[in-house]
Amino acid sequence: MYRKVFANKVFDRKVVLITGGCAGIGRALAMRLAQAGARLVILDLNQAALDSLVQHLADHHNAEALGLLCDVADAEAVQRTVALAVERFGGIDVLVNNAGITHRSTFAETGLEVFQRVMAVNYFGALHCTQAALPSLIARGGQIIVLSSLSGIAPLLYRSAYNASKHALHGLFETLRYELKGSGVNVMLVCPGFTATDLRKNALVGDGSVAAQAPLAMGKVASPQDVADAIYRGALKRRRLLVLSNVDWRARVLA
Ligand code: NAI
Repeated sequence: MYRKVFANKVFDRKVVLITGGCAGIGRALAMRLAQAGARLVILDLNQAALDSLVQHLADHHNAEALGLLCDVADAEAVQRTVALAVERFGGIDVLVNNAGITHRSTFAETGLEVFQRVMAVNYFGALHCTQAALPSLIARGGQIIVLSSLSGIAPLLYRSAYNASKHALHGLFETLRYELKGSGVNVMLVCPGFTATDLRKNALVGDGSVAAQAPLAMGKVASPQDVADAIYRGALKRRRLLVLSNVDWRARVLA
C-alpha cells in the first residue's frame, strides 16, 4: 500500500545501507526510505532490535530489508558485513553513515577511553563503511549521506570528543567529495540540531558535574521524523549540505 502511494523513482528498488538504523534518526529514515520503495540494509548492535525492525518494515511498508549485527568501529566486521549486503542485493546505491554516540562531560572529566570510543564509532565507523562500500557506490553513481551535527560546525558545550568527531567528519567527507567529483557519487553532510532521540540518554559519560541542559535559544527540538524527512528531500535533490538549525547562532558556544 505505502509503496504504491509513496514510491519514488529515485529510491524505488534502490539499496540503502543505514548504520545505527534501529533507533532515532536512522530508524525514522529507514521508514521514510522504505515508503519510497527502497531496499534496506540496517547495521546495528542488537540482533533482537534488528529482527524486530526488519519484521516491521516488511509488515508495514512491504519493504525488503536485511538486519546485520555490526559494530561500525570494527573495520574487519564492517568489510565482512558490507560484503554480505552486496552479495544479497548485488550492490549498494546509498550509504547512510548515521551510527553515533555522545558524552556530556567537561574536558577534564572526559577520559581518553571516551575520546577513543567516540572517535572509533562516529569518525572511524563512517570511514570504515565508506571504504567498504565505495566501489559499489562508484559503480552505481550513488550517494553517501553523513550524519554530522550542528556541533560539526560550532562547538557544543561539554562535548569535546563529540565535537572533534563531527569536525573530523567534515574534514574527511569534504575532501572525499572533491576527490569524487566526476564519479557521479554525491556526498551530503547533514547537520541536525537537537533531536528527540535516546542519544543523550545513552551518553558514555553522563551529566557529571556539568550544568543541566540549557533551554534552546530558539525553535523546537526536532523529531526524528522531521530530520528523516529533511534528509529524504535533500537526498532527492542530491544536496551537499543540510543544516537543520534550531539554535541561536548568536550564542558562540551552543549549550
Ligand atoms: P540514537 O542513540 O537514537 O541511535 C543511534 C543508533 O546507533 C542506535 O540504534 C545504536 O544502537 C546505534 N549504534 C551506536 N553505536 C554503534 C556502533 N558502534 N555500531 C553500529 N551501530 C551503533 O541516536 P540519534 O540521535 O538517532 O543519532 C543518529 C546520528 O545523528 C548520530 O550520528 C548523531 O551524532 C547525529 N545527531 C543527533 C542529534 C540529536 O540531537 N539526537 C543532533 C545532531 C546529530
